[in-house]
Amino acid sequence: MEPAPIGIFDSGYGGLTVLKEIKAVLPQYDYLYLGDNARAPYGTRSFDTVYAYTLESVKWFFNHGCQLVVLACNTASAKALRSIQQKDLEQLGKEKRVLGVIRPTAETIGALSETGHIGVMGTSGTVQSGSYVIEIKKYFPAVKVNQEACPIWVPLVETNENKSPGADYFIIQHIENLLEKDPKIDTILLACTHYPLLMDKIRQFTPGHIRIVSQGNTVAQSLKNYLLRHPEMDGNCSKNGGLQFFTTGDVVDFENHGTSFFGEQIKAQKTSIFQ
Ligand code: DGL
Repeated sequence: MEPAPIGIFDSGYGGLTVLKEIKAVLPQYDYLYLGDNARAPYGTRSFDTVYAYTLESVKWFFNHGCQLVVLACNTASAKALRSIQQKDLEQLGKEKRVLGVIRPTAETIGALSETGHIGVMGTSGTVQSGSYVIEIKKYFPAVKVNQEACPIWVPLVETNENKSPGADYFIIQHIENLLEKDPKIDTILLACTHYPLLMDKIRQFTPGHIRIVSQGNTVAQSLKNYLLRHPEMDGNCSKNGGLQFFTTGDVVDFENHGTSFFGEQIKAQKTSIFQ
């Protein structure tokens, strides 16, 4: 088997905030990024649809030689990962692996809270799936988790309104909703890979004693650990420090938007994953 890049997937741009952190922690590896911009957002779509789209994307990575794929999207991790791991990998190649962002985040978030009250903000899909509540309870049974769906936050980011005064209303509204559900919350998890681009405003409108956690670095550390624990998979990953970006949407849009998510200029290629 030829060593190949690690696949990083998101419905669109959000996963670039995760890739940025992964690349900082593991700069020696090659990465292939795929944003399914033509079909984004995923956050408002049904289980079946997110599963079907994510599975097609995973097959795309495998067709490009990747052995290891990270779903750097909470919605895809919540709605598709388990079925892909438990059902599809059997046919697609038992030696291949698909990892998500929920478990590594859930494993660590509980230890950050002193009150034992955590707030989770995500897309409607992630919140409705209940995945974070279930996973955090597994590692921290005594922790109380309240969630808030913020369906307008991804569009705010994607339309470049994340720094505009108009965004304030929607940021404040969801933070207030969450804290009304549980005033003892001292830790808020941004459970959507788009939300780091709203960090300045979220910080501005959240009481100072509350810690705000985005997941990129946690996911990166967890991937590093995974590769240390699985030398056979590590050997399947090529290491030339290369980066390639693909989008199912418009290349110019992807390069323009993607650059602010990734923090440096990117060059993208158009691809099709529809079958
Ligand atoms: N960035 C994705 C996530 O982490 C959501 C974006 C979308 O709705 O497509 O859930």
